[in-house]
Amino acid sequence: MNNSPFNLSALSAYQGWRSEKLSAYPLRLDGLFTTIQNPEAPDDAEIMSLQDTCRRYNLALYRLAKGDIRSKRHVHRLGQKSGLFRLDNNLCVDEDGLTSLHVTTHAGQHDYIPYTTKQLSWHTDGYYNVPEEQIHGLLLHCAQHAIEGGESWLMDHEIAYILLRDTNPQYIEALMHPEAFTIPANILNGETIRAAQSGPVFSVTAAGNLHMRYSARQRNVQWRDDPLTREAADFLLNLWQQDSPYKIRYTLQAGEGLLCNNVLHCRTSFKDSDDPAQKRLLYRGRYYDRVANTNMTFQETTC
Ligand SMILES: [Fe+2]
Repeated sequence: MNNSPFNLSALSAYQGWRSEKLSAYPLRLDGLFTTIQNPEAPDDAEIMSLQDTCRRYNLALYRLAKGDIRSKRHVHRLGQKSGLFRLDNNLCVDEDGLTSLHVTTHAGQHDYIPYTTKQLSWHTDGYYNVPEEQIHGLLLHCAQHAIEGGESWLMDHEIAYILLRDTNPQYIEALMHPEAFTIPANILNGETIRAAQSGPVFSVTAAGNLHMRYSARQRNVQWRDDPLTREAADFLLNLWQQDSPYKIRYTLQAGEGLLCNNVLHCRTSFKDSDDPAQKRLLYRGRYYDRVANTNMTFQETTC
């Protein structure tokens, strides 16, 4: 841990890691893509390519070359082969553990922006989860893109860490505080669906990986009452207003997807089709696992 780039005292470890991370930017979109020739049986080289891209940038994009692009089986298979097994069981999840993101007015979901055409602000997934259920891996599969808009913006959370630390290392200290920010309780019709949840923005896992909990939605978050915490939170808010070579912008097309270690992301507003068969539809998997670092042969479950 002493030699971790995330240790504020380990300056040379940080500098070496930082140089390598930043030297890759600006990223080329086509360098992030892996084509899966046969989604019924992705081959080892394809999975290794996804995992290696994730290891470098904490995110990877894929494109299914053929097959049923609306099949959830393919999504489960890709996740599992990449090392994602433990699905989070959140409020709006489907029976199979994935969540179908589409415009809906179903009871209990109407207040959630992911189910509207509105812009979705910068966040990492599951920032309101309890500590033992933090989201480390995320899979977004596009079954149908919108007529217009719905662009994803992505930023490796390790890049956000670097930008903060380079500005003021004390920002990192403030954001690693165990009560750096609190998510108020989720109360619907007088019933507490989820209790208030305090925690750090940045934490380092036992395996030495950086994890980030964050939401740019002001009413979603109560920041710790401390000058450095407020400055660091403002720094991040300003970052979202600016153009940056570290932001990746891409509109997922039907049959494409994102596999990532729960990086920062947001989505622009979109226009949905009037045709029910053409309405925007994404499948989302939230996992307690990170994308595996090496190619391993996993036994497929029934999917
Ligand atoms: Fe998200």
